[in-house]
Amino acid sequence: MSRKPRIAVIVGSTRATRFADKPAAWLMSELEGDTRFQAELVDLRDFDLPLFDEPASDLWMPSRDPAALAWQKKIAEFDGFIFLVAEYNHSITGALKNALDQAYTQWVHKPFGAVGYGGVGGARAVEHLRGIGVELKMVSTRSAVHLAAGEFIKVHPMGGNAEMAEVAEALRPALTAMLDELEFWLSATIPARAEAEAKAA
Ligand SMILES: Cc1cc2nc3c(=O)[nH]c(=O)nc-3n(C[C@H](O)[C@H](O)[C@H](O)COP(=O)(O)O)c2cc1C
Repeated sequence: MSRKPRIAVIVGSTRATRFADKPAAWLMSELEGDTRFQAELVDLRDFDLPLFDEPASDLWMPSRDPAALAWQKKIAEFDGFIFLVAEYNHSITGALKNALDQAYTQWVHKPFGAVGYGGVGGARAVEHLRGIGVELKMVSTRSAVHLAAGEFIKVHPMGGNAEMAEVAEALRPALTAMLDELEFWLSATIPARAEAEAKAA
């Protein structure tokens, strides 16, 4: 590949007292040392997206809301994604679902991984995310990082509030597996998207 794939780490929780910042900082520091990717933190808070109120999905017609257009422009910059997934009532946050709905073509044919957290490591939410990804013509890695059970309690502010370094070793094998798969899918989809775009032009 002639250029480094650009990936966004999308923070899926927006609430003021979120825990998300802690795993986000850990993930960004892990990615800093990984020369395969050019990673950027994308915080949904910075986009102030309204609840979806377009005449149709961006699949069918261009969106109108300036905040949605700014969001789509940002998503279009990336070749792939890692979603930071908080589990809310066994699914992803409403904020993340809304952000996924607020774009379409910008997600298509791009791979994603996930870092989930919660009692069961956000596993149920990550599975929902994968189903949504299929509809967006995305490809999910098999492996994901799940910060779960005792490890989750250890670092959560309502538990032990320990540093992420305390659980990093436990998370690393899953992170390595996920990033290796992400690299594979990026190397497949970047040229494939370029070819499809050239054909359509
Ligand atoms: C509305 C709501 C629903 C939740 N539902 C679940 C759940 O289904 N499973 C789970 O493991 N944790 C659940 N939790 C606990 C979250 O894992 C925990 O609050 C976590 O810190 C949320 O991520 P955030 O702080 O980054 O928003 C829920 C929390 C909230 C606020």
